[in-house]
Amino acid sequence: MTYDQIGRTFVDFFRERGHQPVPDSSLIPPPGDPVLFTTSGMHPLTPYLEGRPHPLGRRLVNVQRCLRTTDLDEVGDDTHLTLFQMLGSWSLGDYDISQSLRWGYELLRDGFHIDHDRLHVTVFGGDDQVGPDETSLETWGELGLPVELTREKNWWSNGPTGPCGPDTEIFVWTGDDPPRGSPGTDDLWMEVWNHVRMRYHRHPDGRLTPLRQPNVDTGMGLERLEMVLRGNRSVFEGDGLVPWVDDVCGRWGLRDEPLRLVCDHLRSGVVVLGDGVRPSNTGRGYVLRRLVRRILTTLWREDPSRSLGDLPSEPFRHTLDRFRQPVTVSEVRKSLSEEEQRFRDLLRRGRPVVSRRRSRGPLTDEDYRDLHDTHGLPRDLVDGLLSEVG
Ligand code: SER
Repeated sequence: MTYDQIGRTFVDFFRERGHQPVPDSSLIPPPGDPVLFTTSGMHPLTPYLEGRPHPLGRRLVNVQRCLRTTDLDEVGDDTHLTLFQMLGSWSLGDYDISQSLRWGYELLRDGFHIDHDRLHVTVFGGDDQVGPDETSLETWGELGLPVELTREKNWWSNGPTGPCGPDTEIFVWTGDDPPRGSPGTDDLWMEVWNHVRMRYHRHPDGRLTPLRQPNVDTGMGLERLEMVLRGNRSVFEGDGLVPWVDDVCGRWGLRDEPLRLVCDHLRSGVVVLGDGVRPSNTGRGYVLRRLVRRILTTLWREDPSRSLGDLPSEPFRHTLDRFRQPVTVSEVRKSLSEEEQRFRDLLRRGRPVVSRRRSRGPLTDEDYRDLHDTHGLPRDLVDGLLSEVG
């Protein structure tokens, strides 16, 4: 199955079960939303999970682009991406978790032909505020899947406050040997699909109160599912990443972790630019700036003459087309080149300043503040320069 066929199979399965497709929205959440980027398919649906009637009804499905920068340090391995597509389904106060899990199992087994024996699930085992998720436990038991109980790992929230609830996660075995252990004991179990009983609201004082309606919110990473279905070793072998991998590897000969980091961040950076963000020192623009600087730092570690302008246009076009973004390849490339130049200038000015400070001893918080306020050198950049200075 191609990347597009996987998305279509998912949406069609839920359409046949009465779900209406919600269009993919941009990475920029609606005004008033406290987060910088859409981090999951449920995100744009928050008001409807809280009880506002959705114009398309109580059963929804979609494929939503998401950006997560909380896992930035894990990017570079085989399964983490900053930008990914989330396949999502929702019951807005309609059917319950048991129905959602039965459909989920049916789709994985009969729609995507994943072997029953390669599946494992985890379920919320209860904490001092909410009891164990008995319904999910019972349903998985009836479907004959092995279950592991956890606490924090099976509680889903989008932030410190707002809608949240216990979740149950479906893992697929990615090893060549027969499955062994459990998701908690063996990393070859890869999480693919999360079903959340979105039924509480967390208040700023930590209290939980029931939402007006009990919802089910599910999310599955398309790139990870593609990896499983194609028998790939890594999400970087998927359709959305291959153009980047081919060109970045072909141009600079990068391999392994640096290759994956550069490809992931380039693709993410292009989509963020395509959604209208420009590099800056605050908010979304700063996230973009960090992505670009991480790319350049990785590239320049071996050869400071490398430039993003060396890459062909093809992967840029491929990504902008896939996300149907209304910007041209040359606009995106121009922003990246300007940012690259800014970073080169900053490093040229910063290197002697940091080196002088360092010669007086370890840097204090006050040094960091001064380097930032007087010289425009953010802390992470100073740390990077310090590691060069030794
Ligand atoms: N909100 C859940 C997640 O992000 C499912 O959509 O994993």
